[in-house]
Amino acid sequence: MLLLLNPDSPTPLFDQIYGFFKQAIIDGTLKFNTQLPSIRQLAKSLEVSNNTVIAAYQQLTDEGYLMNVPRKGLFVANLDTQEVNPQKKGQEPPQFTPQKTEKPRADYAFNLNQAGIDEHHFPIKAWRKCINWALDKPFLQYGVYFGEPVLKKALASYLFKSRGVKTQPEQIVIGAGTIQLMSLLATLFKNKMPEKSSKQVAFEEPGYQASRQVWLDYGYQVQPVAVDPLEGIRLDALEPLHPDLVYLTPSHHFPLGGIMPVAHRLQILQWAKERNCYLIEDDYDSEFRFRGKPIPALQALDTHERVIYAGTFSKAFLPSLRLAYLVLPPHLLPHLEALQHLGQSTSVNMQRAMAIFMEEGYWDKHLRKMRKVYKHKFEQALTSIQQIMGDKVTVTTQASGLSLLIKVHTDLSEETLVQKAREADIWMKGKSDAWLVPDNLPQYPHIAFGFGATPIDQIATVVEKLYQVWFEDHSA
Ligand SMILES: Cc1ncc(COP(=O)(O)O)c(C=O)c1O
Repeated sequence: MLLLLNPDSPTPLFDQIYGFFKQAIIDGTLKFNTQLPSIRQLAKSLEVSNNTVIAAYQQLTDEGYLMNVPRKGLFVANLDTQEVNPQKKGQEPPQFTPQKTEKPRADYAFNLNQAGIDEHHFPIKAWRKCINWALDKPFLQYGVYFGEPVLKKALASYLFKSRGVKTQPEQIVIGAGTIQLMSLLATLFKNKMPEKSSKQVAFEEPGYQASRQVWLDYGYQVQPVAVDPLEGIRLDALEPLHPDLVYLTPSHHFPLGGIMPVAHRLQILQWAKERNCYLIEDDYDSEFRFRGKPIPALQALDTHERVIYAGTFSKAFLPSLRLAYLVLPPHLLPHLEALQHLGQSTSVNMQRAMAIFMEEGYWDKHLRKMRKVYKHKFEQALTSIQQIMGDKVTVTTQASGLSLLIKVHTDLSEETLVQKAREADIWMKGKSDAWLVPDNLPQYPHIAFGFGATPIDQIATVVEKLYQVWFEDHSA
């Protein structure tokens, strides 16, 4: 073994020595337990200072390539493990075979994702301005646990004004999306009920599968509860149960679209009080209701601290922002204290920008504009589907949100329908995953038709294309 140093190399001398020994150890030239020359010996033979050799040996020892045996010297450590020495000399590195992946959603000509938002009307100028203002006084350090007070303040006032939600800013928890906040809640309730080995969440069936999965992941038992397509979760199906929590979307059932009448809201609140259980109200898209007056949130009617209100900026504003919030009943706040290690999950600067956006009036203006934009798209989508597809489909809608649900009267499977759509360059998704129990799956496939991201003048075209691939190319 010959170690030659190159004094003209940009690599420092200690690094050259380090690299030489590291490579010799990894490829097995220097075997386990081989003793290395002493610092003085090596420094002399290489004509470098002792410190240069010390620095190289120190690094090799810190990284675990060498072991220091007191009063004897430095020896090559045992690296014969898969992790440190994955390949023997001459062996080819393992080949990575990339899995066949789907075309990315953004590459489709038409995006009917039910969570897609309108890009054309996004208030990019105002948003940029707010980000710049937020960065004017850059917040370079960690932020406040569970959300910036300025945003909580703006949210408390907005939620009261728009949804009747009664909250102090301190009850609000800000996180990186509804799903992330569900993990936080699942942890909170695990800690709150340590005596209960099996904790139960009643869940709308069908319901929001991503959230349901979080509760399952955390070991909760999920009890599916039947849903009325027009009125949301069925109280008669809930009545015999004794869950710890109920997850529901009362203002726009996901995915069937039903709206829970006020009388049901009062009944479920009473039921929750009697059962001493909590209602998680996922109010994900109530900003967009195209008919009638806004319905107050369940939380607005709650007088016994039974409701945990969940909202998001993903539908009304920007899904890529990853900003959502919970409103906790005050008596749960001490349990949150114990979760400070989970800390701040979303950008301080973006929270500040959002607060400025709300305080400066851009938010209200944006909502007013988007209500009109989405109302037109909703009407266009509904009319196109009804006119073009006729009785081959049934559209479920309560005139709100960013998507419609189409029940397709066909003997094709959901998978085939989605596949045919994708072959026609249309991204869309079936909703069978909204049902937890396979036996509960409806007879006909249900497919979401998200109109948010599709330009209004393309809506009829995309419906025609779907008609073609679903019904005309299919001889059955
Ligand atoms: C029922 C429901 N709740 C909440 C959300 C929002 O989730 P997030 O805040 O994680 O973007 C969605 C998004 O599609 C949803 O469908």
